[in-house]
Amino acid sequence: MEKVVSGIRPTGHLHLGNYFGAVANFIKMQDNYNCYFFIADWHSLTTHPKPEDIVKSAHTILAEYLACGIDPAKCTIYIQSDVREVLELYLYLNMNTYLGELERVTTFKEKARKQPDNVNAGLLTYPTLMAADILQHRAVKVPVGKDQEQNMEMARKCARRFNNIYGVEFFPEPQSFHYSASAVKVPGLDGSGKMGKSEGNCIYLYEDAKTITKKVMKAVTDTGPTAPNSEKPEVIQNLFTLLNIVSEEETVKFFEDKWNDCSIRYGDLKKQLAADIVKFTEPIREKIEMYSNDTDLLMRIAKDGAEKAHESAAETLAEVRKIIGFKVY
Ligand code: ADP
Ligand code: TRP
Repeated sequence: MEKVVSGIRPTGHLHLGNYFGAVANFIKMQDNYNCYFFIADWHSLTTHPKPEDIVKSAHTILAEYLACGIDPAKCTIYIQSDVREVLELYLYLNMNTYLGELERVTTFKEKARKQPDNVNAGLLTYPTLMAADILQHRAVKVPVGKDQEQNMEMARKCARRFNNIYGVEFFPEPQSFHYSASAVKVPGLDGSGKMGKSEGNCIYLYEDAKTITKKVMKAVTDTGPTAPNSEKPEVIQNLFTLLNIVSEEETVKFFEDKWNDCSIRYGDLKKQLAADIVKFTEPIREKIEMYSNDTDLLMRIAKDGAEKAHESAAETLAEVRKIIGFKVY
């Protein structure tokens, strides 16, 4: 069965953007592929060198993964720092990756701008660690959002270069994957681009109805359409995009019609949007609470996952050592 790998950094809680951009694909893929879903805690050290409680953060995401329906009976769920083979592969890949190409990665440039006092080597080599995450399992598909495309290109480059240098056909070139025709981009509620933790415009899966409703009711709007069937400005389009993601078709059509004949009332639209988001998040929220309180279960799942991921990675690394010429004991 084809292998799939994806991970999310434990720097907070999962939000609607993470869910619809990544996790929704994980849930579908676990039925059809051999999936490895992990929590990228080592990656989070590139931006959070002294995390308050790194184990707790990883468990938070683990509980949220499970609450969303990622099922350890169907796939392997593990914490990155539990499986050390990735570090050896990271080292080999770093030896074949050039400073110039790492410096050109836009996420590196952005992060370097955001944390000028901490432009560390881990930040620069973020894409080679990500490539190692994927290649250690020889995965072919990677469910990630559009923002990860450059990192994915680096992962393919690492695979290609390794194969070329050693004259082998060992690593497949991994491709990003999503079920919809194009990657979903969940917008924020502040009228700007995407929903994201660092943008501070997120609706989190763990939030209660009151908090979510308050956030949605505060979403930025304008003074309303001035002519029938006019094009929507970005702030309004964002609300409709969210409505499209969480609401029934008739609901979307109802508000589209109201927009088109200029009778739309943004208060009503937001109330409906908030209700539909809550309808979607509430069952997940309840499960998050349940899993978060069961530390024994979380530890057991992480341990089982680490064993399975270790098995897969160790097999790859033994081959890699042989290919390069090192001893395999
Ligand atoms: P954040 O932007 O909140 O820091 P991450 O960068 O950790 O989130 O992203 C984790 C995963 O969720 C990635 O696969 C990313 O593509 C996806 N993702 C994050 N935000 C969105 C969004 N607004 N729309 C679609 N996908 C998203
Ligand atoms: N860079 C990814 C993000 O920010 C997280 C990640 C780390 C990842 N390693 C990965 C995603 C391997 C897919 C595969 O979202």
